[in-house]
Amino acid sequence: MNVVIDADPGTDDAIALCAAVRSDSINVLGITIVGGNVHRSLGTSNALAILDFIEATEIPIVQGADRPLKGSFTYAYDYHGKDGLSTTIPQSTRPASSISAIDFIRATCSPPNHETTLIALGPLTNIAEAIQMNQELANGVKRIFVMGGALEVDGNVTPWAEFNIHQDPVAANVVFSSGIPITLLGLDVCNQIYVNRGNFPPSDNETKERFLTRSILEGWFRFKPEMERYTLCDPAAVAAAENPDLFEYRQASIKVVETGKQKGRTMAKYENGSVDVAINCDPVEVLNHISGMLS
Ligand code: RIB
Ligand code: CA
Repeated sequence: MNVVIDADPGTDDAIALCAAVRSDSINVLGITIVGGNVHRSLGTSNALAILDFIEATEIPIVQGADRPLKGSFTYAYDYHGKDGLSTTIPQSTRPASSISAIDFIRATCSPPNHETTLIALGPLTNIAEAIQMNQELANGVKRIFVMGGALEVDGNVTPWAEFNIHQDPVAANVVFSSGIPITLLGLDVCNQIYVNRGNFPPSDNETKERFLTRSILEGWFRFKPEMERYTLCDPAAVAAAENPDLFEYRQASIKVVETGKQKGRTMAKYENGSVDVAINCDPVEVLNHISGMLS
């Protein structure tokens, strides 16, 4: 499957990129960067460094939004570390692509493509802007796998809101109302998919992707001594894109609260809508699948 990944790397984005690039069934056409976990420029340099490290330099890195449709991003350096990856890898000397994320998404996802899948791992700003700039886009994207939202569980930013949606609720409403088929991986399932401190041993097939993943996890647990588990939100979304059968879904329409105390809250109406909400999985099966993608 041809995919464009939109990310804000960020530690779990980095692991998700490793899994997607390593996967035999995913062809990454490009990676567009959005602010969120870190500033857009750091996310861009992190993505370039990650692709250098796993020797996938043929994949273009494309800069996108450095602010949401309304307001500004609130970065998560306190969670991901000052460099956004919790580990240090050599900086790339390569430049990012010269075109914008909007133009890249439009170029790779507009009709007659119909075969490009988007995987959204950060705030939905880039994708929303591409949809707003090109209504045709809604007919050209096969499906969007979105890591975001918290439907029947608490948020991770406020009691109501998950980070990606909270950062740009206006963009989230543009995407959820676009009519594009969406698979939504919220905290409802992502919170179940985690590794415990010290529980990511080397494997006999120590690929560069797996080595980098282990370095990120070991670095993160050193950075966060108070934490006992690391949640693999973005890798779960990539696993769902590669094998949707890993999860159970309910069809819904999703609306997002855009202002006030409950800003970023994802409200589901379970009906014949365009969003397949992941409601259940076998966490061990998903974890093993992610581990297999890295090997
Ligand atoms: O809430 C988790 C999501 O927000 C993940 O995508 C993480 O990388 C952050 O972007
Ligand atoms: Ca992310």
